[in-house]
Amino acid sequence: MRPRIEVIEADITSLSVDAVVNAANSTLLGGGGVDGAIHRAAGWRLREECRALGGCRTGDAKVTSGHDLRARCVIHTVGPVWKGGGAGEAALLASCYRRCFEIAGDRQFASIAFPAISAGAYGYPLQEATQIAAVQTRNHLERGSDLDRIVFACFGEEIREVYLATFEDIFGPDLFSTAIPGTP
Ligand code: AR6
Repeated sequence: MRPRIEVIEADITSLSVDAVVNAANSTLLGGGGVDGAIHRAAGWRLREECRALGGCRTGDAKVTSGHDLRARCVIHTVGPVWKGGGAGEAALLASCYRRCFEIAGDRQFASIAFPAISAGAYGYPLQEATQIAAVQTRNHLERGSDLDRIVFACFGEEIREVYLATFEDIFGPDLFSTAIPGTP
């Protein structure tokens, strides 16, 4: 069965899913934004586990336990810093989503939640970032997915509006036609 796609306004640290995705930096040792929130909520053992991973390249992803989070695991991915669009940013951001879906498949996760990778401190324009999220999700579904829930956790209603418009654009107007809490 096709996974349910949910676009919700949420603090990603509150979600009960198999994996939350962290928009990390290449040290994997924590930072601000969603990275800081995930590390605060997961506790010091997350930092210890991350330290042993030896960093992560931009466009790649690595998985850890969720420790004190409600989520079982954290998939740490490193999005590109926006430099105007001519530095391979789109390919790198697409690679983040692909790697997260790949890890979810390897681990046989049933549910995953994404933040807007790169669209905060790293400056990626939100509309273009959501377009990449939607296209990579569609590509993942076309390859065949074992997930039953794919959540996009939007940090604020304005961000959610942009996601909804982009996802309807890529998937068509019927995407949210079933009754999903938090969607129109
Ligand atoms: N839940 C969901 N989304 C959130 C949360 C949260 N608790 N907090 C922020 N966001 P950012 P980036 C949204 O800056 O652009 C860090 O310092 C936020 O509104 O967290 O990939 C890392 O260590 C935005 O829409 O990640 C890196 O150095 C989105 O998450 C750097 O920032 C991403 O914003 C990574 O920058």
